[in-house]
Formats: sequence, C-alpha cells, structure tokens
Amino acid sequence: MKLAICPGSFDPVTLGHLDIITRASKLFDKVIVVVMTNASKSPLFTHVERMDLLQRVIEDAGIENVTVDCYDGLLADYAKMRNATAIVKGLRAVSDFEYEFQMALTNRKLYPEAETVFLTTSAENLYLSSSLVKQVARFGGEISDFVPSCILPQITEKLRKEREV
Ligand code: PNS
Repeated sequence: MKLAICPGSFDPVTLGHLDIITRASKLFDKVIVVVMTNASKSPLFTHVERMDLLQRVIEDAGIENVTVDCYDGLLADYAKMRNATAIVKGLRAVSDFEYEFQMALTNRKLYPEAETVFLTTSAENLYLSSSLVKQVARFGGEISDFVPSCILPQITEKLRKEREV
C-alpha cells in the first residue's frame, strides 16, 4: 500500500491546500494530512482547531482515502512511524523552491525511505497562502474565494474573538 503524508501548518487550510490534498489522494492509496509545527511561524489556530477545520473540509469534499493527524516533532520521524512512501508538498512559485528543496534534502537524509513529491499548485491558487487569508480577514476583507466555504464561519468567528482580546 502506497501511503503519502501531506504535512503543513494549515493555519488555516486554504483552497490551495485542498487542491493539493485532492490530487495527492488520486496518486496514493492513502494520504495522511498532518498538522505540524513550523518553527518560524506563530499560528493563529491551535493544532486541534486546525485538525478540525481540515476534517470538515475533507469530509465536505468527499475524499475517502484521506485522514487527518497532528504531530509535534520531526516530519522525518512521523514519516518513519507511519512507514510512508512519500511526503507530498505543494509548490507555488520560484520563491518556495529554495526552502522546500532544503527541507526535502534534510528529510531524505533523516529518512531516505520516503520520497518528497512536489505537486505544482494550480494556476488559480498560485498567489494563495494561509498568511494572506488571515491578513485579508483581519481587515474585514472577503475570503470566500480563498478558503472552502464550509469553514468560513469558524475562521470569521476566530478572528472576531482575536479582535476582542
Ligand atoms: O505549511 P508550512 O508552514 O510550509 O509547513 C512546514 C512544515 C510544518 C511541514 C515544516 O516546518 C516541518 O516539517 N515541520 C516539522 C519539524 C521538522 O521536521 N523540521 C525540519 C524540516 S527539514
């Protein structure tokens, strides 16, 4: 069985992520979307909230061979623990490449059994990122073109609470 891991911060999951997850689900028997810690980011949503958002989005999209998990440690250790064949990442622009290439090489050194596979982001999602979604939403902008509609209320509510603090 070919199992792939789709790691990320997913803070929150966007239409760009959903596109990559959907396409990965067609390439592998099973995909685990794993919410991880990116040491250089300060997340808005907790791990549990991010998992819940992903769960809703995947259920709503009706993708059956994808599950959601969370791991606060090294991606290579998680891949080893799950006996993963591949680590799937979405690649947006040239600016993503250097960082992703560095991570792929590090992960290969730590766990050579898993191959990092890059899926090129669809043209309509090229500019999309979770940071952009948060920035637009924080200033009251419309984010319905950026995130799956089933999670719009949770994102709006979270940002409303953030403003109250
Ligand atoms: O969505 P992101 O923020 O680009 O995802 C990056 C993420 C979370 C996949 C990366 O930071 C990561 O792998 N974190 C886990 C810790 C780890 O293994 N770091 C070394 C990577 S070479």
